Amino acid sequence: MKKILCDSYEEICRVAADFYTRQLGDKPDSILGLATGGTMIGLYEELVRRYQEGKIDFSKARSFNLDEYYPIKKSHPQSYDSYMRENLFDKVNFLKTSLPDGEAADPIAECSRYDEELESAGGIDLMLLGIGVNGHIGFNEPAKTYHLGTNLVGLTESTLVANSRFFGPGERQPDQALTMGIGSIFASNKILLLISGTSKGQIAGRLFEGNLHTDVPACLLLLHPDVTIIIDREADGG
Ligand code: GLP
Repeated sequence: MKKILCDSYEEICRVAADFYTRQLGDKPDSILGLATGGTMIGLYEELVRRYQEGKIDFSKARSFNLDEYYPIKKSHPQSYDSYMRENLFDKVNFLKTSLPDGEAADPIAECSRYDEELESAGGIDLMLLGIGVNGHIGFNEPAKTYHLGTNLVGLTESTLVANSRFFGPGERQPDQALTMGIGSIFASNKILLLISGTSKGQIAGRLFEGNLHTDVPACLLLLHPDVTIIIDREADGG
């Protein structure tokens, strides 16, 4: 595991964007695993800026998102489908983009379909991850047993509370999600984990403590051969 300590959130975004510039420079037809959440907003802004300046090109690249609420209409402003279109997909030139379908009638069949789509694309070259305050990656919540493939999960209270800030008063917040499993994340060649802000200090502390806490899903990443954690001083103080 490699750790890059940044002075600010802006620096995290620039350093992470450099990974994409290099990745797509080396392999223009890369398969990128993408994430959502507040942490990724600045990275996506930086990628859009570089695309507009002609410094990065996604025209041969494909993307697979980590997760999506369930059930949720793609047109819902808080769906990850909307988030990705608004923050990245409508502003750059990906060859193809994929997310788990929050509108699928049969969520279990949708999980298998998503795994098959990912497998036939050849797997992920560079996987982007954020971390939940409880240590979740994607929507893989702390548990005794972790799913390997894409699965339907119930969200924990702490995740619902953390993500409630994105939903308006009276707006129904889904309490389930479709998420890539730990196996799909692990099958990625390289993994980038971004951690920013004091709210992530405590969980980052557990991650860096050096023990494999199995109740912190992000700790499982410590076993992966190519993980880079990009973290700011605020989160690293915990
Ligand atoms: C959601 C996503 C995660 C993300 C997490 C952290 O729960 N499913 O993939 O890592 O949010 O989000 P934020 O960056 O807003 O703290």
